[in-house]
Amino acid sequence: MRDMPLRRESDGWLERWMATVEDLARLKASHPMLDAVIDEQEGRRIRIGDHWLADFASCNYLGLDLDQEVLDAVPEYLAKWGSHPSWSRLLGSPVLYEQLEETTTALLGSEDSLLLPTITHIHMSVIPILVGSGVLFLDGRAHKTIYDGASIARGHGATIQRFRHNDADHLEQLVKASKTTPRVIAVDGVNSMTGNAPDVKEFARIARENDALLYIDDAHGFGVIGERSPDELCEWGLRGNGVVRHQGETYDNIILVAGFSKAYSSLLSFLALPSRLKDVLKVAAPPYLYSGPSPVASLATTIAGLAVNDHRGDLYRYEIYRKTRTVMERLHELDIYTPNESGFPLIEIPLAHHDDIDVVGRYLFDRGVYVTMAAYPLVPKDEVGFRIQITAANPDDQIELLCEVLGEISERFELQHKHHRSLLLRAREARG
Ligand SMILES: Cc1ncc(COP(=O)(O)O)c(C=O)c1O
Repeated sequence: MRDMPLRRESDGWLERWMATVEDLARLKASHPMLDAVIDEQEGRRIRIGDHWLADFASCNYLGLDLDQEVLDAVPEYLAKWGSHPSWSRLLGSPVLYEQLEETTTALLGSEDSLLLPTITHIHMSVIPILVGSGVLFLDGRAHKTIYDGASIARGHGATIQRFRHNDADHLEQLVKASKTTPRVIAVDGVNSMTGNAPDVKEFARIARENDALLYIDDAHGFGVIGERSPDELCEWGLRGNGVVRHQGETYDNIILVAGFSKAYSSLLSFLALPSRLKDVLKVAAPPYLYSGPSPVASLATTIAGLAVNDHRGDLYRYEIYRKTRTVMERLHELDIYTPNESGFPLIEIPLAHHDDIDVVGRYLFDRGVYVTMAAYPLVPKDEVGFRIQITAANPDDQIELLCEVLGEISERFELQHKHHRSLLLRAREARG
């Protein structure tokens, strides 16, 4: 733990403000796995102080952050383009962008694609434009950044209607009852908490039959799942071209948003969209003019990463699949509940008692397992727990350690089990 910040008399306003965010402040102070300073990294191991841990909080699914071919690609691009283009994209972009948009479009099989630095930039700027003064139907568990985009849209005159998470019937009722246009349905692809994907075909049908647009954030699916094929190595499909292709859908009435910052370890993101919409967004979406572009190193690692994906991506995906399956089988053996029904590599494990989070977090840390803590108030009390993410770069001995520690955790602390979970859901339904 680093030094405590100074308290001065003139900080009265700060004390009052801190009192309003007490839960979050306590959380940050009490968890060794929140806002940690990571002193060193070796492969998928990290050192915090003098403690080495296996990293199961990385979203670098394909392990390209450590891939020598990707790392070696960077100096050549820096030599040609410098460290950062710095022009806003509306003024001008290195030709690398045009090449990357072509490659991305070909991989996705979409009509076109548009690159911006982050998915957050895209949600904040594109959702308000697409919805205008119409209505946004928002999945109850869509990612926080989609909610932030929705708040901006509301500020610009849009109406927001929430539907129950993944509940196509509820969505259809709301859409049919609404007369307002434009209408946009916003959902996550592979959900960042549950690891499950929505039924894209059903959501797309509702969008198409009701003159709406389906807007999908597939931050965690892109690079991991892709088009199905008789040649696939596992049921995650080939090429990692995302949830729309994975479910055999077209892009009609669908905008897919995803990024390279997770599976491809590079600061860059994209929308798959029709070319006419792309042309409008170039002038209408604020970050295209008002924000800086991605650094050249990220363009270089994306270009190299896409080439690696062509040659070895399916082998890496198979590695993630195999390792995730081992962990899922272990959970099954221990009768530990997880909302993950897909087998995709994000596994959330809720605790039976939310106030055990400190001791469980500390135990994981002491045993050398680094995970994402899902603590109250970041998640509801009955979802407090931890999330494991598995990447191709987690070696088998880390997976063995994880399986061992899961056994110890289930012996020492109370986790949720299937029967416990169904009682909880029934109680929640009874409460309304
Ligand atoms: C589902 C989802 N959407 C959006 C984001 C934000 O992505 P970015 O860092 O590109 O803004 C994240 C990041 O964790 C995410 O999980």
